[in-house]
Amino acid sequence: MGNSSENQKTEKQGKERVTFSGNIGYVLAVAGSAVGLGNIWRFPYLAAKYGGGMFLLVYLILMLTFGYALIVAETSLGRMSGKSPLGAFRRFTRKKSIRVGGWFNAIIPMLIVPYYCVIGGWVTKYLFEYLRGSSSALAKEGYFNGFVSNSVSAEFWFLVFAVAVFVVILAGVENGVEKVSKIMMPILIVLAVIIAVYSVTRPGAIEGVKYLLIPNMDNFSIMTVVAAMGQMFYSLSIAMGILYTYGSYLKKDIDVEKSTSQLELFDTAIALLAGLMIIPAVFAFSGGTPENLQAGPSLMFITIPKVFDSMGAGNIVGFIFFLMVLFAALTSAISLMETGVSTLMDELGGSRWKNSILMFLIMVVLGSASALGFGVWDFVKIFGMSILDFFDFLTNSIMMPIAALFTCILVVYVVGFKNIAKEVKQSSAFRRQKLFEIMIKYIVPVCLLIILISSVANVLGWIEL
Ligand code: TRP
Repeated sequence: MGNSSENQKTEKQGKERVTFSGNIGYVLAVAGSAVGLGNIWRFPYLAAKYGGGMFLLVYLILMLTFGYALIVAETSLGRMSGKSPLGAFRRFTRKKSIRVGGWFNAIIPMLIVPYYCVIGGWVTKYLFEYLRGSSSALAKEGYFNGFVSNSVSAEFWFLVFAVAVFVVILAGVENGVEKVSKIMMPILIVLAVIIAVYSVTRPGAIEGVKYLLIPNMDNFSIMTVVAAMGQMFYSLSIAMGILYTYGSYLKKDIDVEKSTSQLELFDTAIALLAGLMIIPAVFAFSGGTPENLQAGPSLMFITIPKVFDSMGAGNIVGFIFFLMVLFAALTSAISLMETGVSTLMDELGGSRWKNSILMFLIMVVLGSASALGFGVWDFVKIFGMSILDFFDFLTNSIMMPIAALFTCILVVYVVGFKNIAKEVKQSSAFRRQKLFEIMIKYIVPVCLLIILISSVANVLGWIEL
């Protein structure tokens, strides 16, 4: 790329780069895109599958150490460079081998958004069914599997959701959706609290509460760590360039450490709430058999309708609940797609229109594969996983650790701790500087490598985890 176009781009970005008004504004903006299906759909099924309390404990430890260090690193690198990941890596280094890291960060959202839209489609379908008054049908055993194995309807609902995201991007009304979502989010939280209280007070549910909150060493395996780490990246939108971009919008006087802690607290609280809504219900309504706990991506869609149906007013509660989830999912999907579009625009040039269409095509192709993977293509198993599970695994357990490794490399070998510290200290004291340095220099890279190698070896069948 020529120098002049690079400069033009910088100038344009410089002009357009708005900043957040304060700590709370920043935290809310990041939380708005961070809170999504990851918290409500993904966290509960992973916690159920990978050891309940043990998973939660590992998740919390990773978040407060790994997560904290990586968020601070990405945000400061973004604020320092005023750029999204590709631009930031390019700005800091000439070495091609390190610049690749920018690509890892930039491609991940493009691989996530297609299958994210498949789940968004499931949410839309359930919303539609509650609107039609199908609460008791949804609560029946086998309903969900019947739905996803019907390729036509799975594909149809995926397209409904994906087109909605596409239209919002084209119309440029993200802000409108964001505003609606800011109203919806508090309602979702209140509703989730009510549902969680109802759920944990059902007969037999207390076993589920214990399972979720009390760590049991018997449930520990390396896969617990692999899954918890992937979930932490996913839920906090780490290791995919998003926080570089948000950081580039961040004013110099905003306390990076404090907003990191607030973001983590908020995101985890919502995930826990969703866990309390769903996991005790598995015990109360389906019996907490290992088989039920292993349900995976379908867990929310199987247990939640049973809870609602038993409440009496299943259709109303179901409708309100899935409407809120739909908004949470929409805002996240929009910002994922937006990230993809702006990467394409920066790299390929061309209009927003053209690149939005290109991104949409990528979504349709990869998303359809994921949607059909439970129907006509259910014979396709990649390393034993369905197509959707495979994309989830590829991004969360393989690519994000690599992207995070590159961020560590950038900090340690190129930018240097001194410069990061200077950046953080522009706005506040760097209270956990020692922890930050030890994490980024030694612990994070070593653990990332161990986790990466063991998850690959596990998938290839070399080791049994
Ligand atoms: N964190 C979001 C969730 O919990 C999902 C997500 C991953 C995301 N990467 C993102 C959202 C980038 C917005 C932007 O559902």
